Amino acid sequence: MRLWQELEKLKSDGPYPFHMPGHKRNFAGAFEDENPGKTDMTVTASEIDITEIDGFDNLHNPEGVLLEESRRAAKLFGSRDTFLLVNGSTCGNLAAIAAAVPIGGRVLMQKDSHKSVYNGVRLRAADVVYITSDISNKNISNKDISEEIEAALESAAESASEPAVQKSPSPKSAGGFDLVILTSPDYIGETLDIAGICRICHKHGVPVLVDAAHGAHFRFSDNFPRDAVSAGADLVVNSLHKTLPSLTSTALLHVNGDLVDINQVKYYTQVFQTSSPSYVLMSSISRCLQFLEEESGEFESYVNRLEDFYKATGDLKNLKVRQFANAKDSETPAVQWDASNGGAGGEDEKKLCDRRKTDMGKIVIYPPEGLTGLDLARILRRDYKIEPEMAVPEYMLCMTSVCDSSKAFLMLSDVLHDIDRRLDGDGESQESGDNKDAVSLLAGLAGTTAKVDLVPYPPGIPLVLRGELITEEKAKAMEKILLAGGRIEGIG
Ligand SMILES: Cc1ncc(COP(=O)(O)O)c(C=O)c1O
Repeated sequence: MRLWQELEKLKSDGPYPFHMPGHKRNFAGAFEDENPGKTDMTVTASEIDITEIDGFDNLHNPEGVLLEESRRAAKLFGSRDTFLLVNGSTCGNLAAIAAAVPIGGRVLMQKDSHKSVYNGVRLRAADVVYITSDISNKNISNKDISEEIEAALESAAESASEPAVQKSPSPKSAGGFDLVILTSPDYIGETLDIAGICRICHKHGVPVLVDAAHGAHFRFSDNFPRDAVSAGADLVVNSLHKTLPSLTSTALLHVNGDLVDINQVKYYTQVFQTSSPSYVLMSSISRCLQFLEEESGEFESYVNRLEDFYKATGDLKNLKVRQFANAKDSETPAVQWDASNGGAGGEDEKKLCDRRKTDMGKIVIYPPEGLTGLDLARILRRDYKIEPEMAVPEYMLCMTSVCDSSKAFLMLSDVLHDIDRRLDGDGESQESGDNKDAVSLLAGLAGTTAKVDLVPYPPGIPLVLRGELITEEKAKAMEKILLAGGRIEGIG
């Protein structure tokens, strides 16, 4: 069958999408109880697919309707200026980095950044210092990161006259760096203390880029973590399509303050975007902004649906759903979630996430011992027609949005209870994936230097960078992913 035929089939007979895009293929409109039509995105693409004809402005030099849309976006998201993007957060990251970092400039960034960030700094031939060298360590606290950033900025400022730093032609590296790059939230919704980190960086005159691809919805409810724009970041990238009702590839790049030259940002959004931006996608951004302006009350209903879901799944015995403290209940302890010790099934069953630090919209489900997150995803797909966003050996992620109705949440909760009962009877066993060929390619790689980036996908964060040594530990981590049926770009 051809791709378009496959997609037509999916339309009438596809699995329920607990994945992006956030419009959920209009499933919200399909449920009668709520949201009827409010997030309806149905358009026949060719009917509104135009080029820059008279009256429809030009994204690369907006003066009319597109300028109005970007002003509406800036007002909604509280930024000084906002650029509409039709090439995803990927082009937002590329443009933001190019605008702030001169060729050969210096960057301080998190090691577990999306590959678009790596591509961005490589294109500037930047001298990169990593905030933490341990890519797999999820136990780093906000305090640790802030201290690490402050120490790096201070030591760079002290050695500003040393040759390595003089290499940077940047005029604005009072702190020794041209840009600090952070990812917040990460794929499973954990956030950093952006406000605190920005205060530190700004003290040193260094701008901060936050890759907030997964955080476009934060601003619209106090039950989500603080958004990076209001926290003071200079450059913020949001994918609209991930967590809001907007078509795939739509995103925004927000600019604040004056540490980064707005004209450079404008120039590089043109460099990294198509010269024929899709009006279908821009129309979708426009509809999304209208939804945010007129229907922001929907986010509280969404939070209520999430709360009901978490309450309903708190009693699972074999599966564990990452749980959240109730904001209204100040007695409930809220602590930083520790995904590394087996999540909810770890040392402390009562560990609850703080919804102001972790996005409750990201449902993380941990399998019992003997099963992997990828097994769980296979069961969901095969037996219940549900497609999750991603799975790794340790857990499975279901992505939700304001467009998931209570029926959808109820369905997921019922399905998880059903699987939980089946697991009581020992009815499921671990299946290895069909990656035997890829696993065999791994043999002999440990101890060698990677020729290309090795990137588990999703989430798209390089595990080994090209030119880096493939340690025994990293080779084992990759084998675990492949054996469980996961994919790694660069292998196979
Ligand atoms: C953290 C992060 N940043 C950037 C991106 C790229 O976003 P987009 O798909 O909108 O280009 C992704 C994609 O998954 C991501 O997870």
